[in-house]
Amino acid sequence: QISEAEVALFSVSSYACQRRTTLDNHNSNLTDALSLLAENAELNNEDGRGVAFRRAAALMKALPTQVISMSQLRGLPCLGEHSLRVIKDVLENGVSSEVESTKQSKRYKALKILTGIFGVGAKTADRWIREGIYNLEQLRHSGQTLNRAQKSGLEHYDDLNEPVTKAEADAIGEIVQKAVDSVLTGSQVALTGGFRRGKLTGHDVDFLITHPEEGKEVGLMPKVVAWLESQKTTRNSYLESKDGPARPASNMDRFERCFSIFKLTKGKEQETASHKIWRAVRVDLVVSPISQFAFAVLGWTGSKLFERELRRWAGHEKNMSLSSHALFDNTQNKYLRATSEEEIFAYLGLEYIPPSERNA
Ligand code: CTP
Ligand code: MN
Ligand code: MN
Ligand code: MN
Repeated sequence: QISEAEVALFSVSSYACQRRTTLDNHNSNLTDALSLLAENAELNNEDGRGVAFRRAAALMKALPTQVISMSQLRGLPCLGEHSLRVIKDVLENGVSSEVESTKQSKRYKALKILTGIFGVGAKTADRWIREGIYNLEQLRHSGQTLNRAQKSGLEHYDDLNEPVTKAEADAIGEIVQKAVDSVLTGSQVALTGGFRRGKLTGHDVDFLITHPEEGKEVGLMPKVVAWLESQKTTRNSYLESKDGPARPASNMDRFERCFSIFKLTKGKEQETASHKIWRAVRVDLVVSPISQFAFAVLGWTGSKLFERELRRWAGHEKNMSLSSHALFDNTQNKYLRATSEEEIFAYLGLEYIPPSERNA
C-alpha cells in the first residue's frame, strides 16, 4: 500500500490549450475508457456529455506519470462525478463496468459499424437502427437509398477503416503537390491534422492549400479535383468526393473543401492476399487565402479538443472570437492579423504550443 504522502500530486490548467500534451500517454487505460464513453455519447448526439468525457480524457493524457490512486486526482479540474466514477472503477477493477457494457451493447456496436461508412453520421445510423439495420449485410439488403459518398464508403469499407500510415500520408502528399503544381504554379500544400501533430497513423490525411498571392486561390479546388479526376487511369488516382468540387462549405467555416477518397497504389511489400494493388484512403483537402493561412493551419491541425479549448479560452478569457479564418478582438472591435501560429498564440496571451504538444 502506498501512503498518501508518497503519491505524486499534479497541478494542471483547466484549459487544454495551456497544457503540453504529447503522444506519450501514461494513462491510456483511463483515457481509453473515458474516450469510449465520449464516443458513445457523441454517437448518441449527447454533445454535452461527449465534451465532458473528452475533457476528462484530455486531462488524464496531460498527466506526467501514471495515476495509481484516486487521492492523486484531488483538486484537478475537468473531472466530473461521472468521469471520477469511471476512473475509480478502472483503478480498482482494471476495467470500467460501464465501458464494458457499452462495448457489448447492440446499439453501440451498430452505431460503430454504420458510422464507419464514409458519409454516414450518427443521425443516419440512428434512423437505420430504428429500421432494424445493425450491420453492413443488413444495410446492403435493406433497399435503403445511399448517396454517392455512402455507396463509395460501403464499397471501400475495409480499406477506409484500416489506419493510414505516415508513409501512405507522404505518398498522398506527393500526389496532392503534383496536382496543385499542375493547375497553379506557386501554390503551397501544408500537411495538417494528426500527422502534423506527429501521429504515426490516422483515419485520414489532411491538407491545406494556399497561394502566396492573395486571390489566386479562388477557384483552385475545382481545378485540383478535376486534375485528380483526369488521372483516373494512372496508378495513383483520385476516386470520389463527398462535397462536390465547388459546393459552398457547411456553416463550420467558409473554405473550399473536399472530403475525398484517393486510390493509392500499394508498394510491393504491402500487397495483400487479395492481390489488390491499391487501397482507398480518406483525404481532406482545404483551400485558404494566404491572408487567413495561419488561422487555417492552426484550425485544421487539431486535436479537435485542443481547437475547442482554444476557442473557449479566446471567448471566456480574452473576449476574442477565434475561427479557422480570423481572430476578432471584441474589446477593440477589430480583426487581429497574423502570418504565423506563434503570433496567434501571442495575441491570445498563451505560451506557444507546438503541434506535437497539441495532442489533447
Ligand atoms: N475539422 C474541421 N471540420 C471538419 C472536420 C475536421 O474543422 N468537418 C478539423 C478538426 O477540428 C481538426 C482537423 O480538422 O482540427 C483534423 O480533423 P480530423 O482529420 O478529423 O482529425 P485528426 O486529428 O487528423 O485525427 P485522425 O488521425 O483520426 O484523422
Ligand atoms: Mn512522459
Ligand atoms: Mn485527420
Ligand atoms: Mn480530416
